[in-house]
Amino acid sequence: MKVLVYDQDGKLVELNELSSQTLMEAIRDAGLNLTGQCGGCMSCGTCHVYIDHRWWTELEPASETEDAMLDVVEDRRENSRLSCQIKLTEELDGLTVTLALNSG
Ligand code: FES
Repeated sequence: MKVLVYDQDGKLVELNELSSQTLMEAIRDAGLNLTGQCGGCMSCGTCHVYIDHRWWTELEPASETEDAMLDVVEDRRENSRLSCQIKLTEELDGLTVTLALNSG
């Protein structure tokens, strides 16, 4: 499956042949500007992304813990998510996201 990522400069990067991993891992491992400092335990917010509106309803809703972490990140928007909490599946093939400024 693939994921489309707009980086902080607005450049579109296509990540291909992804398998069972989180969105945070896929973006970080591709060398994009996303830190993912806590490794996915929802304590850093450096994996903050904005989900393309077409994909918003395809995702499982954020947990209370994720929602609480999003409350303290900069520039939270209605389509903000922590990418470490999004598990990539075939159903999400073509998922499109934008990296938040505070992710790098
Ligand atoms: Fe730290 Fe997602 S990697 S909150």
